[in-house]
Amino acid sequence: MPTGPAPQPGILEIAPYVAGEAKIAGVERSIRLASNESALGPSPKAIAAYRSLAGEIHRYPDGSADELREAIGRRHGLDPARIVCGAGSDELITLLLRGYAGPGDEVLYSRHGFLMYPINAQTVGATPVAAPERALTTDVDALLERVSQRTKIVFVANPNNPTGTYLGTAEMARLRAGLPPSVVLAIDAAYAEFVNRNDYEAGAALVDRAGNVVMLRTFSKIYALAGLRLGWAYCPPAIADILNRLRSPFNVNAPALAAGVAAVEDVAALVHAQAHNQRWLAWFSERLAALGIPLTPSVANFVLARFPDNPRKNADAVFAFLQRHGILTRKMGAYGLSEYLRITIGTGEEMERVAATLGEIMAAR
Ligand SMILES: Cc1ncc(COP(=O)(O)O)c(C=O)c1O
Repeated sequence: MPTGPAPQPGILEIAPYVAGEAKIAGVERSIRLASNESALGPSPKAIAAYRSLAGEIHRYPDGSADELREAIGRRHGLDPARIVCGAGSDELITLLLRGYAGPGDEVLYSRHGFLMYPINAQTVGATPVAAPERALTTDVDALLERVSQRTKIVFVANPNNPTGTYLGTAEMARLRAGLPPSVVLAIDAAYAEFVNRNDYEAGAALVDRAGNVVMLRTFSKIYALAGLRLGWAYCPPAIADILNRLRSPFNVNAPALAAGVAAVEDVAALVHAQAHNQRWLAWFSERLAALGIPLTPSVANFVLARFPDNPRKNADAVFAFLQRHGILTRKMGAYGLSEYLRITIGTGEEMERVAATLGEIMAAR
């Protein structure tokens, strides 16, 4: 048998990322709560900006994303020269790994941290190292204990997906203080805008105080532009320089750049989306508690719900029951949390439907 071209060592060991399901066979409009997408959709101004680009798509985009970096800088009080835009924060995770880790190096993350960290670490030949958690929350001491000579990057999603828990400002500063300056601390704040806690900071202040901290942000969650693929990193100048050298020259497409500017400037839409999430996250959490379904205390736009060890009401059974009722949630087996489902906060009507449907299965004998 002739053998085909061999991929680089280690590539075949990568378990491909499995995205949340978007369709149920035979159901025209399912309730999609599997991918932590926005409940409300984008700002109408972002949609208008996207559409306004339709006649211009024969042109290359602005490869330096000047307007968007300036808009982000104004909104967040940050130096645009230290912002790098990417095709989703996923791309920025990959670029950081390409820049700072390779074969023989270790990439540290929290046991139930976002799956793209270990997956992407493997794509550059590095070894992912998971640190255990306490109560499904990132444990700073456990991370610090696992730092070795080989550690190049520590990824912390804050708040974390899929657990919904977060590290307070002091804990994150303690993590940074315990790391050698040669190790990159990547704070992935994809869900930052949803957090309503006094002891939380998305990470920019830490970036300003240190030469080894990067904050990652996305337009896929509260700004509801997941389909356009848009994220950004705020970095020390030397790290921004590395990401800029590695990225392809036109990595963010023109409609995404235009929609991003409009989205970040529409503060009213942001505040509306925050209020919606706070209201329905609290409402849904209370309903699940009343049904006897334990939850992690989420500060993001989803909950992680634990189901009983009863074949008729366990996570698999509940997933299938919800699916039969047109509701898509996310199974958590890939995270080693197979007794849990992750459920995104959708519209009020959707959350009422999910709560009622969960009520049916939990009440059944
Ligand atoms: C913690 C975290 N980081 C990054 C991402 C990726 O976001 P993007 O759509 O910007 O690539 C996600 C998406 O679910 C996420 O949960």
